[in-house]
Amino acid sequence: MYSQGGRGEAKLSNIVKSYEDGRTRRTILSQVNLTVKEGGYAAIVGPSGCGKSTLLNIAGMMLSPDEGEVDLCGTNVTKLSPGKWTKLRKEQIGFIFQSHQLLPYLKAGEQLSVLLKTSQTEVQGLFQELGIENIIDQYPAKLSGGERQRVAIARAFATDAKLILADEPTASLDSERGRHAVEMIQMEVHRRSKAAVMVTHDERVLDLVDTIYRMEDGKLRAV
Ligand SMILES: Nc1ncnc2c1ncn2[C@@H]1O[C@H](COP(=O)(O)OP(=O)(O)OP(=O)(O)O)[C@@H](O)[C@H]1O
Ligand SMILES: [Mg+2]
Repeated sequence: MYSQGGRGEAKLSNIVKSYEDGRTRRTILSQVNLTVKEGGYAAIVGPSGCGKSTLLNIAGMMLSPDEGEVDLCGTNVTKLSPGKWTKLRKEQIGFIFQSHQLLPYLKAGEQLSVLLKTSQTEVQGLFQELGIENIIDQYPAKLSGGERQRVAIARAFATDAKLILADEPTASLDSERGRHAVEMIQMEVHRRSKAAVMVTHDERVLDLVDTIYRMEDGKLRAV
């Protein structure tokens, strides 16, 4: 059974996912396996449209697979009732989305302090570490893509979630800030016994992860 503070780990077994494409079904993920253990940091690379976000969304309980099993932080979520999903997702997963997903009516700092009850001191510390302390009181609409991305990263760190899932966390950042963001995820994984999976196009940050997987033809292969 699920208990708070479970180990930061993810195990996806034999995941199959297909989408309707006109009159045919297109298989995006075909028997995908992925395991990331506590203290592990994995990267997934591969061409646009190959299914990286689809896989991450399945790992983050945003999407159900057609087949296969998902074990997160010691719980088999495939067998959980949908009612329990929301709670588990909120408590165990820090998701950094490709599209940021900030709430438009909350200021940057409030994305943490209001939604997650993060203390002002902690919000300030995280924003400072990410170099965005000057935008704490700005609304998302007034932020650059890179600033929004760093607010989303701060928000993922502000939870106690043991599993960090990051979909292109460096996409809107210059190379120096992008590398720093990936280093921060690495530190978070090591310091607080978490696990992380990152989808990225940025080959220059791959030295910071433990395992690199390439997605091709609906399969993951360790590089
Ligand atoms: N809800 C959906 N319905 C139908 N097809 C979808 C849906 N979501 C994604 N797809 C298709 O599945 C494929 C994989 O999409 P996905 O977003 O996982 O790719 P990706 O590897 O993350 O690409 P990118 O690098 O561009 O972000 C794409 O061809 C996409 O068009
Ligand atoms: Mg994607």
